[in-house]
Order: sequence, then C-alpha cells, then structure tokens
Amino acid sequence: MEKRLIIAIDGYSSCGKSTFAKSIAKMLNYIYIDSGAMYRTVTLYCMRRGFIGNGSLNLSGVLRELTDINIDFIFNPDIDEYETFLNSENVEQEIRNIEVSSNVSRISQIAEVRTRLVELQRKIGIQKGIVMDGRDIGTVVFPDADIKIFMTASVDIRAKRRHDELKSKGTIIDFEEIKRNIVARDIADENRDISPLRRAADAILLDNSRMSVDQQMTWVKEIIQKKRDGC
Ligand code: DC
Repeated sequence: MEKRLIIAIDGYSSCGKSTFAKSIAKMLNYIYIDSGAMYRTVTLYCMRRGFIGNGSLNLSGVLRELTDINIDFIFNPDIDEYETFLNSENVEQEIRNIEVSSNVSRISQIAEVRTRLVELQRKIGIQKGIVMDGRDIGTVVFPDADIKIFMTASVDIRAKRRHDELKSKGTIIDFEEIKRNIVARDIADENRDISPLRRAADAILLDNSRMSVDQQMTWVKEIIQKKRDGC
C-alpha cells in the first residue's frame, strides 16, 4: 500500500492555499483541514460573546470559555466539501465575513488559543493522509510533514482573488478595503511572538501569482511523485 503522507501548506492570506490544498486532498483521497477556519471559528465565538470588537479584547473571557468552543468539520455531500461547525452550528459562511477577518489576527495571537488548536490539529493528523493549510503547519504543527509548501503571490493579485470570491458569493466590498485587510494580516501574521508566519527551511516555495490551479496541480503532482519514489 502506498504510504499516506502529511502535506503542510503554509503561506500568506488569500494566496489560494485552500483551493490548492482541497484539490490535492481530492486527488489523493485525503482529508483536508483548513486550520484558518479554526482560528476564524474561535474568533466568531468571541465576537458573539462580546469578548472582541471595537478595538478591545476581554482576554479573561476568552480564556474562561475556550474549552466551551467545539469545532467540527462535517462533510456536506451536496457540495462535496467539508463545512465548519461551531458547537453543532454550521458557520462556514459567517466565518469568512470581513468582521471576522478583521478580528482573527488578534485572537490568533493568544498563546492558549494556539495551544488548543494545535493540539486539535495534531490529533486530526495522527491518521495521516491529510492536507492541512495555515501559517504554522510546516513549522509548528507538523515539523516532520512529508511535504511542505510555502505559498505566496503579489498583494494585488491576492486582493483581486479575494474580491472576486466575495463578489461571487454576493458580497460587494471595496477593493482597497480588502487590500488593507490583507496587508494588515500579513504584518500581524509575520510579526506575532508565537508561531509567526515563516517559511520552514525545508518548505518548497510556490509563487502562484501567474499560475492557474491546473498548473499548480501539475507542479505538485511531480513533487508528490518524487516523494513517493524516495527522491
Ligand atoms: O487562512 P485564513 O486567512 O482563513 O486564516 C485566518 C487567520 O487565522 C489568519 O489571519 C491567521 C490565522 N491563522 C493562524 O494564525 N495560524 C494558522 N495555522 C492558520 C490561520
């Protein structure tokens, strides 16, 4: 039987990590885990409880209720994809909104939040045959991952992709606002004290600014094949 791999995909926000990771998981019949969705779900919970918003953070509230937050990924056969659930409620759409995007960096800087989510991510990874995307997957969550990819693309291209994605879902947001949010999240992700966004020494760089998903898949197939051939 073919060895089941752990594939870690890290990189900047709105680089197309989840589209890429999902396609790899489908191709290999692996589980796909969107670790960003987990940070977004904790953020949504904290917003609803009034622990974060309007520039303030009630840290003791977050820490007190952290273990009340249950996150699941449940397969929806109608769309052939996994969706994110917060305490049994489908929050897949809500966690992608701009308010959550604006608050998520602050929540993902909290050490206790990271410890809890990393623990959960490792538990899911035990079974192998997994593609996980995020910011610290190849550096912290699975430092021994079989394949590590670090993705990047120009800010303008990332903002355009995000703009188009939101538009296709019926949400019209000013392009410049999206761009500001992306730049702000890059800065927060790269500069936080705990598990900052870094390219692992052994991660392969993928700049997909001018690549289609098909081109990225051709590229990664070769990498997976080489790994399996033991090169
Ligand atoms: O991938 P995304 O844009 O949906 O992630 C949302 C936020 O979560 C991102 O701004 C940083 C944070 N995050 C993180 O700190 N560590 C991860 N492994 C994944 C996401």
